[in-house]
Amino acid sequence: MDLEQIVQIRRSVRKYSGENVSEEKINLILKAGLLAPSGKGIRPWEFILVRNREMLNLLAQCRKGQAAFLKNADAAIVVVADTHASDTWVEDCAVVMAQMHLMATSIGVGSCWVQGRLRDAAPGIPTGCYVAKLLGIPENYALEAILSLGVPGAEFLPRELGDALLKKVHREVF
Ligand SMILES: Cc1cc2nc3c(=O)[nH]c(=O)nc-3n(C[C@H](O)[C@H](O)[C@H](O)COP(=O)(O)O)c2cc1C
Repeated sequence: MDLEQIVQIRRSVRKYSGENVSEEKINLILKAGLLAPSGKGIRPWEFILVRNREMLNLLAQCRKGQAAFLKNADAAIVVVADTHASDTWVEDCAVVMAQMHLMATSIGVGSCWVQGRLRDAAPGIPTGCYVAKLLGIPENYALEAILSLGVPGAEFLPRELGDALLKKVHREVF
């Protein structure tokens, strides 16, 4: 698949077949994150790969209903960053997430972004605090997001660009 096909077929996949994602594929996805660009090349991020079923079930409770599909995922990659290391840590982590999401698509692995920053696990319990406690994340690291991974439960057709999307492109001036 070339990049054009990958971006057309990419979807947020929340339904998984239950089959195993090979360690080789997981490593390719991690590689795509590790090779992502970052502001000043600081790479303030760290990734935590979770494959333990019990931990995935607990991570599924990191959001009120928006992360339940982690229960059926085969793996998750938790992306955190040292917020003092770089003032572009949010953008840096977002690029990592996007690259891993696209790599997953290209090798037939379904993935979905679970937002961690600015979200709550329960009233008064920020998602970041909930996840940090579970995974022993040091205090100076903040949670950006979690990439849920699994073998897709369905196939997707490539998307075409409709008028509504094309209208978002302005030429020369807004
Ligand atoms: C910054 C960001 C945060 C997201 N957070 C969540 C989330 O917490 N839970 C979820 O199920 N999907 C989440 N998504 C996936 C979006 O819902 C999804 O990209 C959107 O509905 C469009 O669908 P598509 O990715 O299949 O094109 C997030 C995506 C992005 C880029």
